[in-house]
Amino acid sequence: MPQQGKKKRDFLTLLDLSKEEIHTLLEQTGFQKEMRRRGVLHQPLQGRTLGMIFEKASTRTRVSFEAGMYQLGGQAFFLSARDIQLGRGEPLSDSAIVLSRYLDILLVRTYGHDKVEELAKHSTVPVINGLSDSFHPCQILTDIFTYEENRGSIAGKRVAWIGDGNNMANTWIEAAALLDFNLVLACPEGYEPEAMALLRVGRLLETGKGKVEVVRDPRVAAAGADLVTTDVWTSMGQEAEQQARIKAFSGYMVDEALMALANPQALFMHCLPAHRGEEVTAGVMDSPQSVVWDEAENRMHFQKALLVWLLLGNQNDV
Ligand code: CP
Ligand code: NVA
Repeated sequence: MPQQGKKKRDFLTLLDLSKEEIHTLLEQTGFQKEMRRRGVLHQPLQGRTLGMIFEKASTRTRVSFEAGMYQLGGQAFFLSARDIQLGRGEPLSDSAIVLSRYLDILLVRTYGHDKVEELAKHSTVPVINGLSDSFHPCQILTDIFTYEENRGSIAGKRVAWIGDGNNMANTWIEAAALLDFNLVLACPEGYEPEAMALLRVGRLLETGKGKVEVVRDPRVAAAGADLVTTDVWTSMGQEAEQQARIKAFSGYMVDEALMALANPQALFMHCLPAHRGEEVTAGVMDSPQSVVWDEAENRMHFQKALLVWLLLGNQNDV
């Protein structure tokens, strides 16, 4: 049931949304979470279908979108690139056109971000980025929601990113620029965020209150932080670099000593899957400061809000 006469919206990076739209989505995430907590059946997406193209592994993204779509009254289809013709060379553009004829909304998890853009360009239904090599927008807005449900507005706070300047880091950069907080990324030499990620938000940083700084020393980033966050050292698709990365990232583990430098009220986040003993100690992962399980749960609430918003528009009244 495509919306007649309305230009479709995609969610490929945070920059697809205005600051106001992000705040609306975060409010709607709270609404979805509350409906679920109260056990209220809330099914505005009856008869709607979501197709999910996966070229990489996933636990959280796949299951939270599937469960969320079902709870909203709709149906999700898991489309492994191994099983559909895309994996045998059918062009992404052709796949986008065909899938748009059957489905109301698409999600893609892939490698190069250009593939996400290509899918969105040829699709006539909204496209959600479920992670590319460059961005992971569903995760970061979920993390912002998780911070704010525990500690209030993230504006003006200090967020420390420790480790790889990867897809998560790039998306945190967009979040800082849009939502006016200070992001300090501690990355080893050669593993800083892509220059493109900083260039994209240059103007927003000039005109807004957000700040982004890249430092070498994790202790400098963690000092006084309100949120400390990290991710795996070897992302999907980088497996051949694993040994070199383990070496390069030594000294970038989030441990109790690093957390002790942060604000005593600081939270710890990790998008998961985590490697205890590499990027984070078991003690920090399982400490009272860690909100990693809430982050994982909130993926579903955020994505339900996103699906409703992309398919039906602003649903303050549903
Ligand atoms: N955090 C996250 O996106 O997890 P999955 O890779 O399991 O989907
Ligand atoms: N940076 C990680 C995130 C996994 C959710 C990866 O891309 O593999």
